[in-house]
Amino acid sequence: MIKTVFAMALAALLLLASLGPALSEGNWRKGKYLYRKNCRTCHSAKGPAKDLSPSTYKQAKWAELFNQNKIPCKPKWPKITDKDLADIYAYLHGHAADSPSPAKCK
Ligand code: HEC
Repeated sequence: MIKTVFAMALAALLLLASLGPALSEGNWRKGKYLYRKNCRTCHSAKGPAKDLSPSTYKQAKWAELFNQNKIPCKPKWPKITDKDLADIYAYLHGHAADSPSPAKCK
């Protein structure tokens, strides 16, 4: 009996781990670095795409873009892991226009 419960708990843990990090679990400091390194190459005043900062959009808009997979440039990204993406999301969403600390990339 104890063994069965233990095995089930272990299986649940493994399942959770295999789902990858949830978007809400990102580290925004790492995200800031990753965003500058991987996204600002295009998304800046001098780049070929729209100049995007966290404060460009409100939190609901960032959530929509990321959760509904509405980001058109994904195929052009350099290698971005799910973890990296969660970190980038934490930066953009956490410092959106209507967040407590809106941020603009310089
Ligand atoms: C090779 C250039 C390039 C790179 C690198 C790039 N993008 Fe884009 N991105 C584009 C283009 C082009 C568009 C569509 C037109 C536009 O928004 O200027 C776009 C659109 C977007 C949009 C939609 C903007 C809107 O207003 O609807 C988001 C969000 C976005 N990119 C996020 C990112 C993120 C996050 C990264 C880094 C992981 C990234 N992009 C890297 C070129 C790029």
